[in-house]
Amino acid sequence: MGKKEFFASMKSQGVALTYNDVRLKTSFSAVMPDKVSLNSKFSRHVDLKIPVVSAAMDTVTEYELAIELAILGGLGIIHKNLSPALQAQHVARVKRFLNGLIEHPVTVFADETVAQVLKMKEEKKYAFDVFPVVNRAGALVGILTENDVDFCTNTQEKVSEVMTKTILSSPKGTGIDEAYAIMLREKKKVLPLISKEGRICGMYAFSDLKRIKTEKLSAYNLDAKGRLLVGAAIGVHEDASERLKHLTLAQVDVVVIDTAHGDSLGVIETVKEVKRRYPRLDVVAGNISEPESAKRLVDAGVDGIKVGQGPGSICTTRIIAGVGCPQLTAIYHCAEIARTKQVPLCADGGLSYSGDIPIAIGAGADNVMMGRMLAGVKEAPGEVVFRDGRQWKSYRGMGSLGAMQAHKGSRDRYQQKDGAKDSIIPEGVEGLVPYQGELKEVITQYIGGLRRGMGYVGAESINALQHKADFHRISSAGQQESHPHNIIITKESPNYPGIL
Ligand code: XMP
Repeated sequence: MGKKEFFASMKSQGVALTYNDVRLKTSFSAVMPDKVSLNSKFSRHVDLKIPVVSAAMDTVTEYELAIELAILGGLGIIHKNLSPALQAQHVARVKRFLNGLIEHPVTVFADETVAQVLKMKEEKKYAFDVFPVVNRAGALVGILTENDVDFCTNTQEKVSEVMTKTILSSPKGTGIDEAYAIMLREKKKVLPLISKEGRICGMYAFSDLKRIKTEKLSAYNLDAKGRLLVGAAIGVHEDASERLKHLTLAQVDVVVIDTAHGDSLGVIETVKEVKRRYPRLDVVAGNISEPESAKRLVDAGVDGIKVGQGPGSICTTRIIAGVGCPQLTAIYHCAEIARTKQVPLCADGGLSYSGDIPIAIGAGADNVMMGRMLAGVKEAPGEVVFRDGRQWKSYRGMGSLGAMQAHKGSRDRYQQKDGAKDSIIPEGVEGLVPYQGELKEVITQYIGGLRRGMGYVGAESINALQHKADFHRISSAGQQESHPHNIIITKESPNYPGIL
């Protein structure tokens, strides 16, 4: 029995399955896990070098995580609990990241005290220590370096008294290669760019340029102009049109019409309208879980579909509204439709371990979207908190009470009115996830798990995994057997944390 018969047999029994109901069948393999190709697509024209996309959630994807994920080969979708202008700023920061040029460096005034600068740095949580110094007329007069501050014994001294006065600068328009050569030669950590009038009009930081010049860009997920790829969430009708004005100026690569019910009139009309006004912009729409819904979105002209109604770790939609389809069955049947028109499918939500990635792809997905599995990383928004002797980060549903009360973007996602803050019906919860450290380490484990799965199945590419995969349905005893059992775990494994 192949995959097709497997799902047909389930369908005939009226059974819908999810990740924990199955495991992939192993098969003869000549495929080495570290040699597989992970290239895939998020939408018709937006490629992925690893099939991982971060959720458009306010505790998951802002510019920091989107930058790091694109560097690792994936894609971040900036959430929409931000004003259109601010959301576009996040997109712009991702697009400009590899330019290396800091267009608006943070400057300090020569007549400020060192104490004032330190206070400002603390309040704004700046992670850098070098500030160009300007006078009140805006002319560059010095650089306040880390050394200048470290060796200052009286913080009431004026910046002008402790700053480095010999400035190495370059004219406006100096490119990355030239700037890097100058900084290497002169051993300078920053290079301000100066206009003809003596005003600072940009700055290069050596650490940024070193990264750009020495790291392997081949693993980065880049657009045709060599910039990191990034997506952004939009709503329907006016919200979409307002956001698109800003997002297209910021050069967004793909927009996701992000709703809890993608098979709705508002979404379908918005897909058509956006494709009419911006024919060259990729539009992904969701979320859906039925094949008929996939057909309506594909017919409306989407460039990608997003599947998942209620599988998410923070979702309560299935419990509160009583709707939804277990994720594996939803992926399989929607993928059958999407494939007929070469529309990529994103399996959104409900993944618990790295092994769920090859399962999702084996069922037909082109990529997976993760919320919880990324919310604990350093680059996700929010502070680390201490509780019960551990480090945690906040993670909440976009349909949680907190998110809906605070943001119109969340209320729109769940079609709840603006004026009715007291009568919100939440479809998600708020909580904590263990702090996971750097995204890079976490993605290494997730992608490592995917590669191992592909090795066991004998699939050398994402496409091969989609075609070769076949499933065993497992019982709850089988599921129990799959996890560590009859042992007290004394050491947490990086890909199998003791607590989730
Ligand atoms: P995971 O399992 O990765 O799921 O944490 C992330 C996905 O869940 C969706 N999402 C929600 N669904 N109520 C819901 O029913 C919510 O409050 C909510 N917030 C996010 C979303 O598709 C996300 O990518």
